[in-house]
Amino acid sequence: MNEQTACPDAPLTTKIKSSAQLLFCLGCCCGRTDRGLPAVPVERIKAIWKAEKLNRDVQLTISGCLGPCDLPNVAVVMTGQEMHWYGHLNSDAHYDAFIAWARACVLESRVLPLPQSLDAFRLDRFANSALVSDERKTPVVPTRSDSGSSDERPPS
Ligand code: FES
Repeated sequence: MNEQTACPDAPLTTKIKSSAQLLFCLGCCCGRTDRGLPAVPVERIKAIWKAEKLNRDVQLTISGCLGPCDLPNVAVVMTGQEMHWYGHLNSDAHYDAFIAWARACVLESRVLPLPQSLDAFRLDRFANSALVSDERKTPVVPTRSDSGSSDERPPS
């Protein structure tokens, strides 16, 4: 077993220091104005992130389909503690709220509470999942101790 395929002895860490990650979906439905769905102002957002170097603290990701296509446009905010999903984002004001939040996080060097103006657009992403029931706090992903072998890896 070479070094690249060996299982690490400790949890992996990254040198990337951003404290949050903001994903805007631009998939098969989100942002598809040609299908009559609201736009995602990707170029404007990317330009702001680049000009203001927001990525240092809030990593911006424009993603492919995130799953809940019935609620376009979708966004996700991930921090070290939480993950928040949003749906039905349909105006520049919604994206401006995320931009203002990211700017404030950078300014204060900490992850701030998410914009209250977007609370109505929060999405309980896994509320109807077939694999999650009342024990929603139980991890679905097996831990190393569950697997029985430290060499087990998902198929690639
Ligand atoms: S295209 Fe955005 S959730 Fe599927």
